[in-house]
Amino acid sequence: MTPEVIEAHGVRLRQVAPTDVADLTAGCGDPVNLRFNPGMPQPYTEADARWWITEGSPAAWAAGGAAYTIADPTTDRLIGGAGIGQVVAARRQAEMGYWVAPWARRRGVATAALRALADSALRNGIHRLELMTHAENPASQRVALAAGFRHEGVRRQAGQLRGGGRADLLAWVRLADDPPGPAPRLLPDLPDGGLTDGVVTLRRLGPDDAEVMYRLHSRPEVVANQAPPVPPARAGVEERCLLAESAWLTGTIARLLILDAVTGEPAGSCGLSISDAAAGEGSIGYALLPHQRGRGLATRAVRLLAGWAFGPAGLARLAAGTVPANTASHGVLERVGFRREGLLRGRLPGLADARLDDLVFGLLPDELR
Ligand SMILES: CC(C)(COP(=O)(O)OP(=O)(O)OC[C@H]1O[C@@H](n2cnc3c(N)ncnc32)[C@H](O)[C@@H]1OP(=O)(O)O)[C@@H](O)C(=O)NCCC(=O)NCCS
Repeated sequence: MTPEVIEAHGVRLRQVAPTDVADLTAGCGDPVNLRFNPGMPQPYTEADARWWITEGSPAAWAAGGAAYTIADPTTDRLIGGAGIGQVVAARRQAEMGYWVAPWARRRGVATAALRALADSALRNGIHRLELMTHAENPASQRVALAAGFRHEGVRRQAGQLRGGGRADLLAWVRLADDPPGPAPRLLPDLPDGGLTDGVVTLRRLGPDDAEVMYRLHSRPEVVANQAPPVPPARAGVEERCLLAESAWLTGTIARLLILDAVTGEPAGSCGLSISDAAAGEGSIGYALLPHQRGRGLATRAVRLLAGWAFGPAGLARLAAGTVPANTASHGVLERVGFRREGLLRGRLPGLADARLDDLVFGLLPDELR
């Protein structure tokens, strides 16, 4: 690419300059930046910034990529960086990366810079732009979506961790002929961060919910009603909570905590996964802590979740699979309007080589009560 100045969407992309040393050192040295850009030296010193200006950045341009400074257009001061690398000319493909200084975050800078640079690259011969994010970096995943990149899958162990080890990376891709604007999402954010009917509140699961989730999902009666009926490992529950925002953003599953709306106490959890995106079908599950049962909270939670699924999430049908003997759960579903649809014999894995029957309930939008 040619290093021309790009002014678009309220940011300026220009070449790095000797006057950027102090801002570059402070911005790159930020711990969040160093965590998600493991290739940057740590600690990041003024000598590293000077190396970037005299050697690193020119080398990136010489390799056919781009290494821009993101500057505030009113002051021309550096507020971040955005670049293109890994150019595969034969495939008209390249990879993008970016960072924003802590003092300039949460005001659209990364989204503006990514859009501006992607627009320019896609106008000038690149057909496919890739972006890799760490699964624990939802801020960057939101930037990718806002700039029109679609989730394409997981690149297993594609990332290097600082200090050794490897991490899965999520691949986000924008093509030259994708429609302009943000990428569509299967699971939109909850309005004002939650759903409530005044008695229960649902909100997205987060890293701090691991303890209560582990307690709930280790209960023998909760384990008995899942397939296979095996208690979860603590590490698996922690990861599920840690990556809940990422799973939501990729459209895989919306995992929610159910809270008592009055006391704020956790009451249980529920989830909505997209079981068939093309058909517009979602699948739900739920569980309550023992002392919160018997008050109609699960019914309220499922009703709220179904309303959101048919409304903002735009689904056309909901399904719920149950253990045939779980009459308490059937009652919850029937009170919300679900109908018993059929017994799928041996559909799910049980213990050892056993298979389990799945009694499936279904709900259409006009049946929701
Ligand atoms: C990721 C990063 C570039 C975002 O920069 P930014 O300028 O703050 O991003 P924007 O203001 O454009 O925000 C874009 C979206 O992310 C959301 N967002 C930003 N920071 C967030 C955070 N810490 N947590 C959750 N969401 C966040 C914004 O609300 C916005 O979402 P919306 O479009 O749904 O409203 C910045 O946090 C950063 O430099 N992080 C360290 C380096 C890094 O991760 N680089 C990317 C490697 S793939």
